[in-house]
Amino acid sequence: MIGKPSMFASRRVPVISHSWICHRRKPRNPCQISKPFFASIQVNYGTGLNMLTIERALPQDAPAILALQRLAFQSEAALYNDWSIPPITQTLEALLEEFSAGIILKAIAEGQLVGSVRARCHDGLCEVGRLIVHPAFQRRGIGSRLLRAIEGQFPAVTRFELFTGSKSESNLRLYQRAGYRIAQTKSLSPAVSITYLEKRANPAG
Ligand SMILES: CC(C)(COP(=O)(O)OP(=O)(O)OC[C@H]1O[C@@H](n2cnc3c(N)ncnc32)[C@H](O)[C@@H]1OP(=O)(O)O)[C@@H](O)C(=O)NCCC(=O)NCCS
Repeated sequence: MIGKPSMFASRRVPVISHSWICHRRKPRNPCQISKPFFASIQVNYGTGLNMLTIERALPQDAPAILALQRLAFQSEAALYNDWSIPPITQTLEALLEEFSAGIILKAIAEGQLVGSVRARCHDGLCEVGRLIVHPAFQRRGIGSRLLRAIEGQFPAVTRFELFTGSKSESNLRLYQRAGYRIAQTKSLSPAVSITYLEKRANPAG
């Protein structure tokens, strides 16, 4: 059952668990995350049964995330008439490797996985990717919240970077609304080009 569109429209300040705040330390380097590496974050939006929870995904979540990724990216595959794009063809093994390379977040609503996003950081640059929301839960602000949540995991980076297909206008709008600016466009073929966007951050501490 799909909830009302306004389900996640609340602009309430997220509830962040007290233990997370207590463990927060001043970042030692630009790529240090905002909490002990092994801990999971939990950011709850709203209250009651319709609560959206965003938290650290674990390797055991990989099969469900991969299934959701393949479902969510069907619209992009159709837009480019190409079902061989990496988000569709990625293997479980390749996804599992990403758990050690960076952070993967998952969004849970109504007891099910409804979204995910991942990022990795090097040299002060945070690369964000694979932002996905279940088609039945899109256009309720979950994608934007996932994006904010993954950025919040890297309080000391100086730059966030991501990319999307140049024809993916809705994605471009979402990223620009979140403060990203188009950095460059690269042509992959006569029919496909990729737009890179970046956002300068103000590192904490
Ligand atoms: C990209 C994606 C993650 C966005 O997820 P989402 O949850 O729909 O994102 P949001 O809800 O934050 O924003 C999407 C739109 O919904 C609108 N919206 C947000 N909350 C809303 C609400 N409560 N009621 C109505 N509309 C709302 C936003 O304004 C935005 O509108 P726009 O397209 O006209 O600019 C999702 O579309 C997806 O999984 N796409 C396929 C995979 C993909 O392309 N990923 C990005 C790869 S770069």
